[in-house]
Amino acid sequence: MAPTIIVAAPVSDSLLGMLRAAGRVVQVDDAQALDDPRLNDQIADATGILASNTRRISAGILSSAPHLKVVSTVSVGVDHIDVNEATARKVVVCNTPGVLDGAVAEFTMLLILSLARRAIDNWRAVQTGIWSRGEQLPPFGNDLRGKALGVLGMGRTGRAVARLASDGFGMQVMYHKRSGALPSATTDVRMEYVGRSELFRRADFLTLHVDLNPETRGSVGRAEFDLMKDSAYLINVSRGAVVDEDALIEALRGRRIAGAGLDVTQSEPPPLDSPLLRLPNVIITPHIASATMETRQSMAEMAVRNLLAVCSGNAPEAIVNPEAVA
Ligand code: DGY
Repeated sequence: MAPTIIVAAPVSDSLLGMLRAAGRVVQVDDAQALDDPRLNDQIADATGILASNTRRISAGILSSAPHLKVVSTVSVGVDHIDVNEATARKVVVCNTPGVLDGAVAEFTMLLILSLARRAIDNWRAVQTGIWSRGEQLPPFGNDLRGKALGVLGMGRTGRAVARLASDGFGMQVMYHKRSGALPSATTDVRMEYVGRSELFRRADFLTLHVDLNPETRGSVGRAEFDLMKDSAYLINVSRGAVVDEDALIEALRGRRIAGAGLDVTQSEPPPLDSPLLRLPNVIITPHIASATMETRQSMAEMAVRNLLAVCSGNAPEAIVNPEAVA
């Protein structure tokens, strides 16, 4: 029987065509949740779900899809999917590692540069007439060359950031990862492995590249901000919930740290009355680090290939829970 494929992610017409050639496609628009009772019949028939990272794939959804073989997400992060439940149900979870590293690394550098060179403050000064009235412009920013970049988590995106920062901007890169230093043969980037506390203590810019999981949730909080220099900046392009947001607000308000560049926040979008939106030393963007036309297309293509591979009994390019197959 032809597979039923639920498409809950933006995909191009040509990718939709590929999916339609493989089975019955049910497109779910952004306004409709996957647990909407009007979708019960389609979910009950589903063989595959293609989802963006804004779609919660809960145990409830998985349990109402007895024929489901694969959830393929158009993201590298899988914290929106109940992977344990999927594994228990032998549902393969696929993601899109690799294709977004360049875009995320560029965006990380954009946040670092914007903070270091006060790009937003200066734009505001032009926009509000401070410059044209000859009033005081924002203070000068700082060079990146020679500054210490601390990278927490050294997976693919961490490495891409380290390379850009070191080769492109002459930053001194340090990193920490839970499982210890990388074997030197696996990287050509000049970087120093340091302990976690040392990373927070020495960094001029501290950038987070860790997954969100029970261990990392809220793991960057008051203790870490207390370690940081008061001239240092926090950059987060991973997941908002890795950071204890109340502690961050307190650190920013008290100038315990100099500022933050956040592409991700605890709730997205952040509530309009969040103090984060009113702090002068913060830049927030709407979770767009990987969002270039080219990269999102490559991610969608990889997610579709992963989904179709599993539906036809082949190995996908990226699998999060290989135990589901074993
Ligand atoms: C990812 O791929 O996880 C990015 O956060 C974009 O969704």
